[in-house]
Parts: sequence; structure tokens; C-alpha cells
Amino acid sequence: MSPSSALVTGASSGLGRHVATELARQGWNVILGCRDQSRGAAVAAEINRQFPGASAYVLPMDLASFDSIRAAVASLTDQPPSAPLRALVCNAGIQVVDGVRRTVDGHELTFGTNHLGHFLLINLLLDQLVAPARIVLVSSGTHFGPHRALGFPGPRWADPRVLADPDAVHLGQTAKDGRIRYATSKLANIYTTYELSRRLADQDVTATAFDPGLMPSTGLDRDYPSRTQRIYRRLAPVLVRLVPGARHPQCSATDLAWLVTSAEVADISGRYFVGRRPKRSSKASYDEVLAAQLWDRSHELVGSPARPAPPKLP
Ligand SMILES: NC(=O)c1ccc[n+]([C@@H]2O[C@H](COP(=O)([O-])OP(=O)(O)OC[C@H]3O[C@@H](n4cnc5c(N)ncnc54)[C@H](OP(=O)(O)O)[C@@H]3O)[C@@H](O)[C@H]2O)c1
Repeated sequence: MSPSSALVTGASSGLGRHVATELARQGWNVILGCRDQSRGAAVAAEINRQFPGASAYVLPMDLASFDSIRAAVASLTDQPPSAPLRALVCNAGIQVVDGVRRTVDGHELTFGTNHLGHFLLINLLLDQLVAPARIVLVSSGTHFGPHRALGFPGPRWADPRVLADPDAVHLGQTAKDGRIRYATSKLANIYTTYELSRRLADQDVTATAFDPGLMPSTGLDRDYPSRTQRIYRRLAPVLVRLVPGARHPQCSATDLAWLVTSAEVADISGRYFVGRRPKRSSKASYDEVLAAQLWDRSHELVGSPARPAPPKLP
């Protein structure tokens, strides 16, 4: 196989770190899209140490800042990866549980990072992906609706301008429970996947959504009270054994890498994968009108036309 490159967002920890490592193991060059450069550099160094001949490096990128995303894409345009860019893994994610926080651009932080940041990144990178190429968006089973056994609420969809507006969120019902906003942002990832797949139908670029299952040992719980985090992490081995669909991040990462590299899924687009199985996502996620509305509103919110920032002058 001739070498290819993949950009993985949120590669500094959890699922993103493991999938970048797995792709490098399979001979891919990996670009680690990370906001924390020193943690990203440590992951890159570890990958390059484990797999001599691998090429892993950090692309500084804060998905909560449109300027940062534009600058990251501009720097990739200036210095393209040595092997063709054939995959984008939109993995970075945040779950703000308590209170309402804002992105650098003033949008609600969970929707802004998980959806808007990736939406802008995808649109900016489309011209740089070399077909055949794949875009995988990491979603979550939380998009289905309340998980009664785990006590997790479901999504609450609204006009994307409302979902992005911290003041509207602050006054609305989701203000007290950021987990609703998280589940909603993961539904947005699926709408984006399906809409992208329709828009890319005549190009050799696929778009799929991936549900990694519950991974209790990652950093996604960092906004929970420290006592809850401690209990949750102590229970992680039990949860992985007992809760259907709960998994170690390494296992989910192997499946995610398979979705990026396997010939078996080369032509599959517009599908939702749970591990390696294509499954139906929620009924609501197939609403094409809402998906198209999200696409158009997101363009307005990120500032259309979505173009990379001009290169910085010395
Ligand atoms: N854990 C689960 O049970 C679970 C279940 C279903 C789906 N997922 C999804 O899986 C994906 C990975 O999450 P994880 O569980 O591996 O959690 P994690 O360990 O917290 O990893 C999240 C990654 O996203 C990065 N990130 C957050 N905000 C960012 C920003 N503004 N700019 C750039 N990077 C940012 C984090 O970077 P820093 O290191 O700088 O914070 C980190 O590398 C997420 O999309 C999540 O929604 C997780």
C-alpha cells in the first residue's frame, strides 16, 4: 500500500490517541490535531518511538476557535503532508456538564467544539483530501435518547442558531444539564455525516459516523466533580464487563481505524457504525430537512465562505 496520511483531531488523549497509534501501526502517517501542543508532542514522540519509520506530528488546532482552525488548515496548505491526505477523523469532543461556557467566537462550547469546529474543518479540508478519501465523525449512542440504566439524558434539537447561542441556552431548559447539549451535539455529528455524504455523492470521498460505545476510562468526564470521576474510573473495569456496549478505548480505536483503512468499507458512505457494524441511527437523525438546515445555518455561523486564513507574512 502506498503511504497515506490521516488527520485525527483530539489525538492528545483517549480514543484519538489510540486511533492515531493504530493508524501509525498500519503504516499511515498521522497528523495529530491538538490544542495542547506539549501533550500532542508527547503522543507523537511515543508513536514515532514505537514505530520506527512512522511519521507522526502535531498540527496545533483549537476546535473552539475558528481562527485557530483556519490557521491550522492554512499551515497544511503551505506545507502539505509528505503522503496524500486520505482521511480526516473528527474525534475531538467535550462534554461541559455544569454551566454554560463559550468558544473563542462566542458560541456555546459543546456545540461549538463538537459540531461547529469540525464543520468548519471539514469544509476547509475538502479541497486538500486526495480521493479516494474518508471522513469519519465520532458520534455517540447518546444521540438516541435517554439511557435510563445509565441515567443519561437524550438530545433536544432546536434551530442551530439557538443551539449555538449561549444566552439562549442559558435561559433554556438545557442550561442545567450540559449532558443534553452533549447528546445534541452528537446528533449534529450524524446530521453532518449524512448531509456530507449526500453532497459528496459524485466524489470519491465517503463520510461515516462512528459510535465507539461507552469508554469509561477516557478524559471525557473531566468536567464532572472529582469525586464522581474517581468513582467512575474505579468502576471502569466493571462497567466494561457489565454494561452492554461499554469498551476499552483501545478496542474502539481498532474499529475506528478499520473504518478508516479497510477495503471492506471503501465504498460505504452515509452510514452509522457501532464498532464495525453498520446500524440504524435514531429516527430523528434521518430527517433530511433538519440536516440541510443545520448545514446552511452552520455555514452562516462559521462565516461563509469557509476559507483558510491567508498565510502569515514573516
Ligand atoms: N468516552 C466515552 O464514553 C465516549 C462515548 C461515545 C463517544 N465518545 C466520543 O469519543 C470522542 C473522544 O472522546 P474520549 O472519550 O476519548 O475523551 P477524551 O479523552 O477527553 O478525548 C477528547 C479529545 O478531544 C480534545 N479536545 C477537546 N476540546 C478540544 C478543542 N477545543 N480543540 C481541540 N481538541 C479538543 C481533547 O484535548 P485535550 O487533551 O487538550 O483536552 C482530547 O484530546 C469524542 O468525540 C466523544 O464525544 C466518547
